[in-house]
Amino acid sequence: MSELSVDHLLGIKYLNKKDIELIFETADHFKEVINRPIKKVPSLRDITIANLFFENSTRTKLSFELAEKRLSADVINFSSAQSSVKKGETLIDTVNNILSMKVDMVVMRHPNPGAGVFLSKHVKASIINAGDGAHEHPTQALLDSYSIRERLGDVKGKKVVIVGDILHSRVALSNIFALQLQGAQVMVCGPKTLIPKYIDKLGVKVEANLRKALNWCDVANMLRVQNERMEISYFPSTREYTQQFGVNKDLLNSLDKEITIMHPGPINRGVEITSDVADSKQAIILNQVENGVAIRMAVIYLLASKIKQ
Ligand code: CP
Repeated sequence: MSELSVDHLLGIKYLNKKDIELIFETADHFKEVINRPIKKVPSLRDITIANLFFENSTRTKLSFELAEKRLSADVINFSSAQSSVKKGETLIDTVNNILSMKVDMVVMRHPNPGAGVFLSKHVKASIINAGDGAHEHPTQALLDSYSIRERLGDVKGKKVVIVGDILHSRVALSNIFALQLQGAQVMVCGPKTLIPKYIDKLGVKVEANLRKALNWCDVANMLRVQNERMEISYFPSTREYTQQFGVNKDLLNSLDKEITIMHPGPINRGVEITSDVADSKQAIILNQVENGVAIRMAVIYLLASKIKQ
């Protein structure tokens, strides 16, 4: 039987093409399961999973919890705001206390880049990175590619532009790695101040003009400006940002072809995307959320299979 090349999911950069194919094939099976009247399988009745969220989340947290429950795992949830982290407990102490309750797998979102890698070196559990600062968000990139594959038939050969705040985005970095592994071409588009200086080393195209970027691509992945990670202003005003980098229906209708619109959420309606685009048939934003459950079931199932060996 095929298995993942990794024991943890810390970032897309640690995966290979075969890993992604295996995750997608497994997700296809689980997508069928979650559309049945009984949406549950008994596969992980012997596995306990802790969801540790040191940063806010709606989609990722709920999606992981649902994926774990659909696989019949035992689940415990931890949110740093109501925990003893506030009393000065370290990350390793927190996690080791949780693991002493016989936990097999940890899903963690943390504001510090590399937190998952650090944890994987110090605790005995399989770690899934649910977003580490501006570094990686691997399950988001997997569900994004899976959604492109579902809508357009394949990821290979497709042209994808990621628009907006690339500098502070873990979604952008994970998507670049995932899309390139599958043979897609990637472009980034946004204010010069929000494009990282190292972008050339990632082998992506850079375009400052949104209309040109949208005319080039098959898919546009619109990102939110991450004000919470900014200590200074990176552009003159939100109004100006929207004028230059926001997508609206008039702009889409004026393009040479119909493109697919994605957004990882949360959306700032009227800033990077207008409601008539977000709620249109061209947008697959809620399909992305739906696919997130099947993708996370696949990742958890495949990593748990390695624990059980
Ligand atoms: N896409 C995403 O990570 O959303 P949340 O922050 O709500 O989990």
